[in-house]
Amino acid sequence: MTKYGSFPGARPRRLRTTPAMRRMVAETRLHPADLILPAFVREGISAPVEIGAMPGVYQHTRDSLKKAAVEAMEAGVAGIMLFGVPEESKKDAVGTAGTDPDGILQVALRDVRAEVGDDLIVMSDLCLDETTDHGHCGVLDSEGRVDNDATLERYAEMAQVQADAGAHVVGPSGMMDGQIGVIRDALDQVGHEDVSILAYTVKYSSAFFGPFREAVGSSLKGDRKTYQQDPANSRESLRELALDLEEGADMVMVKPAGPYLDILARVADAVDVPVAAYQISGEYSMIEAAAQRGWIDRDAAIMESLTGIKRAGANMILTYWATEVARRL
Ligand code: PBG
Repeated sequence: MTKYGSFPGARPRRLRTTPAMRRMVAETRLHPADLILPAFVREGISAPVEIGAMPGVYQHTRDSLKKAAVEAMEAGVAGIMLFGVPEESKKDAVGTAGTDPDGILQVALRDVRAEVGDDLIVMSDLCLDETTDHGHCGVLDSEGRVDNDATLERYAEMAQVQADAGAHVVGPSGMMDGQIGVIRDALDQVGHEDVSILAYTVKYSSAFFGPFREAVGSSLKGDRKTYQQDPANSRESLRELALDLEEGADMVMVKPAGPYLDILARVADAVDVPVAAYQISGEYSMIEAAAQRGWIDRDAAIMESLTGIKRAGANMILTYWATEVARRL
């Protein structure tokens, strides 16, 4: 055979020859302790309700939530992030159910803490959208705009009530200015210095939140563009980050994850606190829907999506597949 030109001395393919070789040189590994399970609990139902746009994800009863928490814990998952879905009749303009000690989220926090103790980190979504009749993340002023500072007062009270109910970590997700500082003060004032804050620091106004709106029975009409970030921007994420750290965030989150890996990488480079990323409802639904049609290899796509998020710099990943993936690892 004729030899053509010069053949390569460097052959990157050598390190891809076998599964054992690829395993040895892998830079990114998923571990069950990287994963956090977001879970929904709905008031007034007697059996779990599957979410139409999120096959395999349920609105839990109090009982089925406890089971899901124990299963996650046994699979080695690090934590659970709880969302409460109150009865429609309990929603009002200021989200009273969010500060009622007997509101569904608080009841669920007590249930889950009693079940898992300190072996699974129990987190609560700290936001008003699940409990307001207009579906916004804050209270409205007389013109119908989301009132930042009036909302902060509601968040302060929510933080105290959620911590009283047993949250190890509160997760403020409403994107109000100053929310981390106010929540930190509120927690400290009532002796909850040990409750930490996972700040939803970077949160874009995303179309991929669509299926979540069904999951929490959201009443929202319109959008959240006056408080969540514009997908066109990246610098303002660093500004949000600086503010949250200054105000006392213990951990920061980037959300959504998949379409914002560039932002995640920038944030991860910039901080000295743990970084979480939230693989949100639409990211879940896209893969499940394509897999149902046989268009994509479900399990491989799930692992690849999570590996990408970890590779970009996340220490912790909130994913609806947490328990399943933890078992597989
Ligand atoms: C607000 C909140 C939302 C999500 C988490 N916390 C909804 C929103 O901002 O519209 C979305 C999570 C997901 O889509 O999986 N309480």
